[in-house]
Amino acid sequence: MSRPPTVVRTLPALRRALEGLRARKATLAMVPTMGALHDGHLSLVRLAKRRASKVVVSIFVNPAQFAPTEDFGAYPRTWKADMAKLAAEGVDLVWNPDVKIMYPPGFATRIITEGPAIAGLEDRFRPHFFGGVATVVAKLFAQCRPDLALFGEKDFQQLKVVTRMAADLNLGVKVTGVPTVRERDGLAMSSRNVYLTPAERAAAPALYRAMKATAKRLKAGDDMEAAMAGGTAMITEAGFALDYFEARHAETLAPVASIKDGPIRLLVAAKIGRTRLIDNVGV
Ligand code: PAJ
Repeated sequence: MSRPPTVVRTLPALRRALEGLRARKATLAMVPTMGALHDGHLSLVRLAKRRASKVVVSIFVNPAQFAPTEDFGAYPRTWKADMAKLAAEGVDLVWNPDVKIMYPPGFATRIITEGPAIAGLEDRFRPHFFGGVATVVAKLFAQCRPDLALFGEKDFQQLKVVTRMAADLNLGVKVTGVPTVRERDGLAMSSRNVYLTPAERAAAPALYRAMKATAKRLKAGDDMEAAMAGGTAMITEAGFALDYFEARHAETLAPVASIKDGPIRLLVAAKIGRTRLIDNVGV
């Protein structure tokens, strides 16, 4: 059994804990999260353990990336269960600042994100989102100064935005993407899946099935427009209200017209009932 991780909630305590971890030339990997941890988060932690000698996980529900109409207040908070999971994984340090520590009175700086952050995907529906993510992740990197950081492909556009931001600001952090962990029926694990009613939960795997079916048709040489229309029909017939279902270049996120413009990533965002889900697959 591993020791439970050290939990710190103030910047001086974080500095002291990092000094301890950094002794003897340890390499430090960071996994930023908003808690409500599931096996998707834990796969990031496991890769972090393999790639570095010490692992810090942050748990911070970041108000700057939620719109007033979104679920900041309702976002699941499962501290005890999260700590048990992180202890079982052998995590060294948990950084759990209060909102007042992350954004003290007078806080007045926000990172402006362009490039992958204005690709016309999540940014179209959550215009405040990537500025809030980039700002908090830059702060987390500055506070913890990790050598590497792990992010899920589940949030594909976020992975691109954070990779770009870390390089652009010369933060000295290597950002690595980790494949999406799914439930047995294909639904991508997400902290927000707890919002689904049983009927919605039963319908939700249609998102993944539609993307896989579309990817298969594209690989078989089907016309892009026809294949995307087929996928769209599968998603809406399952009861989803679609925000977007798009084929994009997997690196630049630029629109693509044919499989020859690839490598291609299919990206989807859709609401079922009151819950908004996002997912993506490679073609
Ligand atoms: P959160 O939604 O808690 O996710 C934390 C990390 O876990 C992200 O890198 C996300 O892509 C990854 N993740 C979530 N579900 C996954 C799954 N099913 N498989 C693999 N990885 C998965 O994303 C955020 O928090 C925040 O925006 C954050 C980056 C912490 C900034 O506040």
